Amino acid sequence: MRIAVLGTGGVAQNLASGFLAKGHEVVIGTRDPKASTARVAPDQMGTPGLGTWLKTNQKVKVHAFADAAKWGEVIVFAIKGEQVAAAVKAAGPDHLAGKLVLDTTNPLEFGANGIHKAKSIPDSCLQVIQRAAPKAKVVKAFNCTPGHLMVNPKNRGDQLICGDDKAAKEQATKILKEFGWDVADVGTADKAPYVEAVSIAACNYALATNDWNWVVALPGRNK
Ligand SMILES: NC(=O)c1ccc[n+]([C@@H]2O[C@H](COP(=O)([O-])OP(=O)(O)OC[C@H]3O[C@@H](n4cnc5c(N)ncnc54)[C@H](OP(=O)(O)O)[C@@H]3O)[C@@H](O)[C@H]2O)c1
Repeated sequence: MRIAVLGTGGVAQNLASGFLAKGHEVVIGTRDPKASTARVAPDQMGTPGLGTWLKTNQKVKVHAFADAAKWGEVIVFAIKGEQVAAAVKAAGPDHLAGKLVLDTTNPLEFGANGIHKAKSIPDSCLQVIQRAAPKAKVVKAFNCTPGHLMVNPKNRGDQLICGDDKAAKEQATKILKEFGWDVADVGTADKAPYVEAVSIAACNYALATNDWNWVVALPGRNK
């Protein structure tokens, strides 16, 4: 499959490597391909610059958001939460129409007292994306998982997914299982605020303990 990963941070890099390892074609989308590929230094979180990551992922091409989204059969959103509407606009809603959009994003606002929901997101990042691209088939996934554990996790947890399109959720489930996860479908797109809130709670735990090695799981459920 042709996978367009929109984003250049840790989530984008981990998922792009994962899709590549599983035999898919991958293109990264970014605002400014030249500037992004020139970045080699790690960021504050230790994520390598895209230029460094590309040295070990040479099959991946880097395009502007719109070209990447047009090319992709499946689109991964790995964008800073408060900027998802800007990213949809740059990608072009028509380039997302009819396609599975895997939404990994969270509306995080970092403050002195930990992490809270970004005030600029009225309900959830997923709903912002879905309103901006009404014909896209947006499914929440991966947002409750630290980036470095998204592919083949040591502890198999549950990916909480939600979205309005049943077939898209089935396609997402197939991908998530391929990546080593069980899947818990929590319902329609209007459940996304709660799924994103799970991530905010877990990130506050991680920030307080400096422990980013957890997975979310619903143990004991019938699978
Ligand atoms: N880090 C994690 O472990 C983790 C885990 C689960 C979920 N998440 C969520 O996944 C998403 C990605 O996280 P991340 O840590 O990989 O990266 P991030 O730093 O949150 O986001 C980086 C991406 O956001 C894009 N961006 C920033 N401002 C933009 C704007 N004005 N318009 C369009 N795009 C813009 C950047 O585009 P350029 O490439 O053009 O600079 C870049 O590709 C976030 O929503 C985060 O909350 C993160």
